[in-house]
Amino acid sequence: MAHLEARKHISSDSGYPITIHPNFNPKIKGHVPPESIREEIVPLKDRAAFADPEKRALFATAKRVDLTESIGTVLKDIQLSQLDDRQLDELALLVSERGVVYFRDQDLTTEQQVKLFEHYGTLDKHPAQKASFPRPLTREKHVTIRGSTEDHREIAKYTPWPSGDFHADTSFEVNPPSYSLLRMEEHPEVGGDTAWVSQYGLYDALSPAMQKFVEGLHAIHTSRLQYDTILDLWGTGPNRPPIDTHHPAVRTHPVTGLKALNVNGGFVTGFAELKKTESDNLLDFFQFHIHSADDHYVRWKWQVGSIAICVVHRVIPGAYKGNRRGIRTTVFGEKPYCDPASESRNERAQRLEKERQNMDGKHEGANGVHVPA
Ligand SMILES: [Fe+2]
Repeated sequence: MAHLEARKHISSDSGYPITIHPNFNPKIKGHVPPESIREEIVPLKDRAAFADPEKRALFATAKRVDLTESIGTVLKDIQLSQLDDRQLDELALLVSERGVVYFRDQDLTTEQQVKLFEHYGTLDKHPAQKASFPRPLTREKHVTIRGSTEDHREIAKYTPWPSGDFHADTSFEVNPPSYSLLRMEEHPEVGGDTAWVSQYGLYDALSPAMQKFVEGLHAIHTSRLQYDTILDLWGTGPNRPPIDTHHPAVRTHPVTGLKALNVNGGFVTGFAELKKTESDNLLDFFQFHIHSADDHYVRWKWQVGSIAICVVHRVIPGAYKGNRRGIRTTVFGEKPYCDPASESRNERAQRLEKERQNMDGKHEGANGVHVPA
């Protein structure tokens, strides 16, 4: 890390960098990404829309174990390599409902992983994919995620991108991913866990007045800080120019129709409709909100052969012994939108419960036991 540009510009008064922003690094200014910014696409209909809501084909073989009430399900007694198209559609629906679905001891190869994910749509590769250089950019459809033995907290003193914070991968794209799969090929015994948080739960955990306020805002998702930091750290990449995208701060999930908080500390730098001080303070609040949402959080210990298909997450910062290497595939999703008429997860649960009670009441009435008013 001694090479980081900020380390070369230390204030003699404080002994710390004059600024952590490395934009004075000539490599950043001079870098010409080989690809252009991704324009909006209209993806094919999400495969989850074709699934049996009961997921009978999937659960005919898989055993479901929910890790928390809000988020995270492990599927046991199943190999992803053996799933047919119907089961894959049902799996997509389960991921949309549960936020993240895990598997252990999988025999999936990289080739099979790419093929499996092509069932879900057009594969994207990460705009900052280091492994692309100098290999041809167009051929790779997966990203190799390598662990870092460097201290995230130490890097954060000298670079502006909060790489260890919660994020949805490439949420700054006009079409952020609908599904992302990470398969671990190499992993240390201890450390390198990943945490996920439910965007449905984060929305429900706000007060009704706050929900209403945030619903009217656009969150500014940017790749700029990542772009600068990666060039400073690696001295190479990224593949695409930096981009700022204004996505609804509350989005309606295209599959479940549920409202989800679309703010993450890794890429969101503000809110388009607010003044800077208002925006900064709201962002501070969301950092607290996301990091204190223990009931909407799940943490996963990786092993070789483990797989997660998922949403908002962070790698728990810290050092570990040994290598960490995973293969990730991602597909483009819909451009986020907010339908004010959509429900939150709590609202839907309450409505369904009410409908169930009404149905029970009618049945009881028919039997002459109880006639509802
Ligand atoms: Fe990530």
